[in-house]
Amino acid sequence: MKTSRRVNVLEYLIREFVPIAKQLEAKGKKILYLNIGDPLRYDFKTPKYIRDALKDAVDKGYNYYSRARGIDELLEAIVEKERKVNNVPISPDRVVVTTGVSEAINFVIAALVEPGDKVLLPSPTYPLYANFTKFYDGQPVFYKLDEKNGWMPDLDDIRSKIDGKTKMLIIINPNNPTGGVYEKNILMGLLDLAAEHNLVIVSDEIYDRIIFEGEFYSTASLSKDTVVVGLNGFSKTYLMTGWRLGYVYVHDPTDSVGQEIYNAIVKMAMNRLCAPTPIQVAAAKALRGPQKHIANFILKLKERRDAVMKIIEGSGCLSAVKPKGAFYVFPKIECKGDWKDDKEFAYKLLIEEGVLIVPGSGFYAGDRNHFRSVILPPIEILEEAFEKIINFIEKYKVS
Ligand SMILES: Cc1ncc(COP(=O)(O)O)c(C=O)c1O
Repeated sequence: MKTSRRVNVLEYLIREFVPIAKQLEAKGKKILYLNIGDPLRYDFKTPKYIRDALKDAVDKGYNYYSRARGIDELLEAIVEKERKVNNVPISPDRVVVTTGVSEAINFVIAALVEPGDKVLLPSPTYPLYANFTKFYDGQPVFYKLDEKNGWMPDLDDIRSKIDGKTKMLIIINPNNPTGGVYEKNILMGLLDLAAEHNLVIVSDEIYDRIIFEGEFYSTASLSKDTVVVGLNGFSKTYLMTGWRLGYVYVHDPTDSVGQEIYNAIVKMAMNRLCAPTPIQVAAAKALRGPQKHIANFILKLKERRDAVMKIIEGSGCLSAVKPKGAFYVFPKIECKGDWKDDKEFAYKLLIEEGVLIVPGSGFYAGDRNHFRSVILPPIEILEEAFEKIINFIEKYKVS
């Protein structure tokens, strides 16, 4: 019996080294985990008003299957939030609630990509976009995020890669893994390109409220004639990673193919019945509740980001663009060393120093000299981990 060919394309390097880390830990080695973008693994907690809302929803009996696209209360709260926070005018009947943005990525690509269709993806990218494109027999085409220009998308590179088979353009803003927050003129440029070539834009904005500097613009808020499929969720801003809730909306300013795209996404949603109902009730309360935790979260993350940047800038062997949003840093290893590529670097670093990072190739980066670290742990852990990373490079670098 052979398992299906298509599952083999689903690579997820963010978790690949975890079993090795666990084995080392079982043998008594201390491991510093800098790999997973989950604030709840560090010193952040789901706000009490949200935890209480979930307990209340379960007690009040919201334990049945909901409608596939989500409960009214949550759809309305999402529409309200997108209008107030992101200036995106959508109606509840263009929103589908999903089991995390992860499921939304699957639904959107399943709904839109035919075999052979080209999907423009940033390099580096969050890996699920490449995985699901391949899973549905689409063709990932990577466009350059320019490190020298604060990791902004390179519009000329995108233009040169568009042809008759190109269907979709993926934007991740604020970006994972780079921490880049896209400037308005860049987003306008992307929208112009999409309009010119009749592409649908998919804009992943899961980090929309985790901004340290600069201004965040939601892609849909700037679109005059391009269909923008927006993705967002509760994992990061509302510290609800394990609760698995997200949403997708279709913004179609000229009333073109939006309804069709929405219907196709709903079809996918119907086949998995619904996102968990009590969590949907709690998520509506999360959106309409105090929001005070967001400012505290950003404050702590910013201090942690600054501490990491100070170490990197003083290191001599690492450099990094200062992240303006999200909670990652994507340093470049400036020295050549006794490692074959970024994967071997990550593996040796884990074995020798007990520090777990993710190699840049896990994000389809353009070279083999980068890694991603979260900036989530308390400063003393970040300092300890980066000291170990730097010692490791110093020990194995070759001049
Ligand atoms: C850019 C991006 N999109 C989507 C996801 C998946 O999030 P969710 O927990 O909503 O599935 C992540 C998680 O790290 C992410 O960084």
